[in-house]
Amino acid sequence: MSALGDSVKLPCGLVFPNRIVKAAMAEMLGGFANAPTPSLLKVYGQWGKGNWGAVLTGNVQVDVNHLGTPFDPALASGYTDPDTNKDLVETWRQYANACQEHGPPSIVQLCHPGRQSLRFAGRRGVFASPIAPSAIPLMMGESYAQQWMSWFVFPPPREMTQADIDLVTRQFVDAARLMADAGFSGVELHGAHGYLIDQFLNPKSNTRTDVYGGSATNRAKFVLDILHQIRAVVPSTFCIGIKFNSADHNSASFEHTMTQISLIAEAGIDFIEISGGTYEDPKMFDAGQTQPQPQKSARTAAREAFFLEFASAVRARYPTLILMLTGGFRTRAGAEYALSQNACDLIGIGRPAAIDPFFPRLFLDDSLTEEEARLTLKRVSVPFWAKLIPLSAVGAGWESSYYTRQIQRIAKGLRTIVPL
Ligand SMILES: Cc1cc2nc3c(=O)[nH]c(=O)nc-3n(C[C@H](O)[C@H](O)[C@H](O)COP(=O)(O)O)c2cc1C
Repeated sequence: MSALGDSVKLPCGLVFPNRIVKAAMAEMLGGFANAPTPSLLKVYGQWGKGNWGAVLTGNVQVDVNHLGTPFDPALASGYTDPDTNKDLVETWRQYANACQEHGPPSIVQLCHPGRQSLRFAGRRGVFASPIAPSAIPLMMGESYAQQWMSWFVFPPPREMTQADIDLVTRQFVDAARLMADAGFSGVELHGAHGYLIDQFLNPKSNTRTDVYGGSATNRAKFVLDILHQIRAVVPSTFCIGIKFNSADHNSASFEHTMTQISLIAEAGIDFIEISGGTYEDPKMFDAGQTQPQPQKSARTAAREAFFLEFASAVRARYPTLILMLTGGFRTRAGAEYALSQNACDLIGIGRPAAIDPFFPRLFLDDSLTEEEARLTLKRVSVPFWAKLIPLSAVGAGWESSYYTRQIQRIAKGLRTIVPL
């Protein structure tokens, strides 16, 4: 029996029945109301039946004025308590039930996009600035056309005041409380991929000279305050995890990144999910590697996880942390290799879950051969006309939107299509 089928107990007491976790993927199914919709519930009803160790939701934005995409589910106002906000709790309870009624625990990913907020996403208005630790615009390329396009798509942010920081901290805490009251098993803070928490952690996007900047410890203050304040208000059995960028792909030094991980570990975290990349450098989708092809050897497959070395380095320093590793897993051999190297406890699965909601059976059914126990996916090819868009992230955007469409096909009860 493969170790992939072993259960994993988190420090909060929550048990994942196996190690294969559906990673967060934005579904763009929040509609114009930016709330859980019947389509969203339908797709999570499918994932809920898929025998996952846990199901992470796509990112839920803590402030509807600042969205990643126009149709992200989000919180439109503050949350007081279940009696005052009955309808709100009921809406999110239906979402929690759809995810969890067939067994797996479900964890809501909470996010604020900061400067990675599209001009036309969110209710702040197309001319209002996004917010960020420092007023540093996103730059997706160096040419004049790329800079202009970056400016047009992602308006330059304004530096957050202390009042902004207090507000966003409260929004994360309120959102976590709402998810606990709605019956979800936990939340994951999106601290990776260049979103607001990652912007604070990273010296490239955080050049502040106050208590939130200047050192690795100061840059971690924003997320640590959020973490401490959530812990103080949710039940002790409620899981709190974080998605974190590997040091290879942020501009902080390895030691600074390790310092921040140690601070997060000390604050009490149930798991850390390792990923990497930002909109400026979208390594989360390939980390510069090519996908293993079906005919490649088991040794090649073994190296398929994008951030394996970094996860191993974190493990060596913090052996008791529960680590989830996401990015590139396509074969049972690759997932077993990562476990055998003691690089992680949990295997995060993104794109394959958008093709096959029942993906874990491929890794958990011992009767399948190595050749059968895999789902190899080609890179989505970018059409000629889209290559004319002067943004370095067009390929990653194309890749992502292809899988969003597959998620939406699952919601409609249609067959998904493997990229050709
Ligand atoms: C359509 C799509 C949407 C995604 N949305 C999110 C998201 O909301 N939050 C997040 O942390 N990662 C998001 N990701 C990244 C995945 O969680 C994962 O890190 C990435 O796809 C690499 O894993 P994979 O190789 O198994 O796909 C998204 C990926 C895709 C394809």
